[in-house]
Amino acid sequence: MAKERTLSIIKPDATRRNLTGAINAKIEGAGLRIIAQKRVKWKKKDAETFYKVHKERPFYKDLVKFMTSGPIVIQVLEGEKAVAKYRDVMGATNPANANKGTIRKEFAESIEANSVHGSDSADNAKKEIKLCFKAAEIVG
Ligand code: PPS
Repeated sequence: MAKERTLSIIKPDATRRNLTGAINAKIEGAGLRIIAQKRVKWKKKDAETFYKVHKERPFYKDLVKFMTSGPIVIQVLEGEKAVAKYRDVMGATNPANANKGTIRKEFAESIEANSVHGSDSADNAKKEIKLCFKAAEIVG
């Protein structure tokens, strides 16, 4: 089975509570490999560019504000069916609807402060990875 890659972001609510290691343990425990990782603080423009697909959504401004409120950890994950697998590990967007054992069930505070982002398709994963990483920063 071919390896696939997905983009993950550990969000400001999680870095603030020192949960990067706990989240990485869930990722690695699911058989995904972290093949790139960097801790950064986004400027408004970075978050606006990343979330431009949601520009018309009512929560867009709040989402941009939240994603620039503290450090984030951006990662590339690799493995079989990495996109779908990571979405399973993350759990539903709203932690109230997330399954037991998922990152969002265990750690998320709300639909906004929901601890992690994961690409929603292989196509979007490619775009998001290209936007966030130089090829030399990814070591598979
Ligand atoms: S939807 O309805 O399926 O399109 O929503 P979803 O793709 O799951 O959510 C898109 C991202 O927006 C965030 N989000 C919100 N932020 C603030 N307030 C509200 N109400 C809200 N609803 C959704 C959500 O966490 C998703 O962020 P990412 O980083 O893509 O996971």
